[in-house]
Amino acid sequence: MSEFDAVRNTLAAQQKRVDRTLEDLCGPCPSGVPDRLWQSMRHSLLAGGKRLRPVLCMAGSELAGSTPERGLPMGIAFEMVHTASLIHDDLPCMDNDVLRRGLPTNHVLFGESLALLAGDALLAWAFSYPSSLLAQAGVPAERILRAMEIFAQAVGPWGICGGQVLDSDPLSLREGDDFLWDIARGKTATLIQGALLSGAILGGAGPEIEERTAEYGLHLGMAFQIVDDILDATAPVEELGKTPGKDATQGKRTFVTHFGLDQARSFAQRESDAARRALEGIPRGEWLRSLASYLVHRCS
Ligand code: IPE
Ligand code: IPE
Ligand code: MG
Ligand code: MG
Ligand code: MG
Repeated sequence: MSEFDAVRNTLAAQQKRVDRTLEDLCGPCPSGVPDRLWQSMRHSLLAGGKRLRPVLCMAGSELAGSTPERGLPMGIAFEMVHTASLIHDDLPCMDNDVLRRGLPTNHVLFGESLALLAGDALLAWAFSYPSSLLAQAGVPAERILRAMEIFAQAVGPWGICGGQVLDSDPLSLREGDDFLWDIARGKTATLIQGALLSGAILGGAGPEIEERTAEYGLHLGMAFQIVDDILDATAPVEELGKTPGKDATQGKRTFVTHFGLDQARSFAQRESDAARRALEGIPRGEWLRSLASYLVHRCS
């Protein structure tokens, strides 16, 4: 079995676990919730996707010496917020996309107002869902608080919201190469880093593991966004599950439109190498190191 088969197998097994948990959560409409809001939230949460953030949260917990289960509730919260950010990202006022995860986007099916509110509802649910489960599982309160703080930071002005502003607001546009890195760090890398790091903290990580996972997570997240930009320009719709070539037709500033494909590929490789180095010699770090290589292999 090749190194990448092992990565793919673990990814598939953990994705299934996340999917099962989300399906259990998204059963019949709970009393007190408007049915159409629930349908709209359900549509996007159960539409599939790679489930990378919850898988990373579980991997962080394992890296710290605990079980994947310990990272699962927080991972579900990360997936809820990620899904909310995708619903909002696809809105006509942002990227105006009609296809997501191989299905019509939320606003196409439910209208803009419901899509906006389904995103908000998922965001709020993401904060209420994990806390009591983690407390019941016996995770020390100070670890829960730290994980929640990292989570909130990754969503707010220093994270997705800030990054999406740089990505979409014409008056925030800046010249210079740094701008591209700031967009990717805010809109994507901070959440990916936060998923892994909060999983590690919940799993009982000491200072060295925390420091190494934070470094790995940031580089992995940067590589992930660069690869997303490359795939937008190179992959077919069946592979993407979203509209190909969207960045160029919309005049988006991405690693590909700004630097060109070759340079983007070499940046992705550089970030992946840096992620691998961050976990060098760390016990139980091999799967994550292989994941960093696999990610870039997807677009080479
Ligand atoms: C897409 O994220 C948005 C970015 C941050 C690049 P993913 O590529 O993880 O999307 P899903 O969850 O698999 O649909
Ligand atoms: C969006 O980046 C990142 C988010 C915070 C949702 P993109 O706009 O590149 O994501 P895709 O390509 O639509 O998935
Ligand atoms: Mg976007
Ligand atoms: Mg988009
Ligand atoms: Mg993209």
